[in-house]
Amino acid sequence: MADVSSLPIPAKEDLDTNLDDVLQQDLVTVEATLLDDVMSDEQYLIQSRRAFIGGAAGTATLGTVAMCACGCQGRQKFFANMMNNGMSDYEALPQVQQFKSQLFDHIAVGDDIMEIGIGSGPNLKYYADKSIGKLMALEPNREFDEYIIQNVAKSNLQTKVDIVPGVAESIPKADNSVDVVVGTMVMCSVSSVKQSLAEVYRVLKPGGRYIYTEHIAAPQTAKALACAQQLADPLQQALAEGCHLRRDPEHEIIQTFGQENVNSERFVLSSDDILPPHFLLSPHLIGVATKT
Ligand SMILES: C[S@@+](CC[C@H](N)C(=O)[O-])C[C@H]1O[C@@H](n2cnc3c(N)ncnc32)[C@H](O)[C@@H]1O
Repeated sequence: MADVSSLPIPAKEDLDTNLDDVLQQDLVTVEATLLDDVMSDEQYLIQSRRAFIGGAAGTATLGTVAMCACGCQGRQKFFANMMNNGMSDYEALPQVQQFKSQLFDHIAVGDDIMEIGIGSGPNLKYYADKSIGKLMALEPNREFDEYIIQNVAKSNLQTKVDIVPGVAESIPKADNSVDVVVGTMVMCSVSSVKQSLAEVYRVLKPGGRYIYTEHIAAPQTAKALACAQQLADPLQQALAEGCHLRRDPEHEIIQTFGQENVNSERFVLSSDDILPPHFLLSPHLIGVATKT
């Protein structure tokens, strides 16, 4: 221990001056804090963000635990129901109907179509006026079957729909056998984007088209949205059977089909139209890629 007996004893005036300094510093600190409280939106944002992160983390944990407890079939049933009923407002958005109509115009009379990850069949109505050839509905989740059957009945589609159990990573079709592959919001969910696209390319005939719409990672310019996607991603994957909010398959599509054969567009759906939780899906990549 240090020997304090030899330390100089400060004079009373020095002590008063030091005390004044300390008090002055404290006043400056208090003043700065008060100024911050009044002035700083940033402080407010940080507090809100902390509350949001806490809430989101809690909800994510509870949701994940609940979904794990549900069991595989329960989760698949929940997801199929959520896609069939929970996405109807998204499907009804004029912007969505417009870009889907334009993309589905790349289907010609008599085309044989393979829709990968068809879900409940929200695209069936876009085939109805096209006199298509065969329609094969590739879907790994059997809980969607009853919704597909119901939605075929509602769609005025004249063509028989074959529900094909399977995954995009291994499409049960011969090489060069399909005119059009359709995939809407599917690359978010597959185990391997690269392998799925290789399979899409393999089964397409030369001149065949891959029509896609994907929700993707928010652009760097939309920092708040990117942050919200990051926070919600674990819960989304748990609730939506492995659907990732932060993927962007454009690079892999270009690598598979070649830059000159890919016609893509990226945009963020108007925030006036799109309500939570769909705003997390608002950044979009849509397009048509052609096999040469
Ligand atoms: C977000 S949902 C989209 C469903 C539908 N295409 C739509 O637009 O509403 C993702 C779909 O991909 C399916 N899916 C998941 N993994 C898949 C895989 N490896 N191959 C093909 N489909 C898959 C899911 O079962 C689900 O139907």
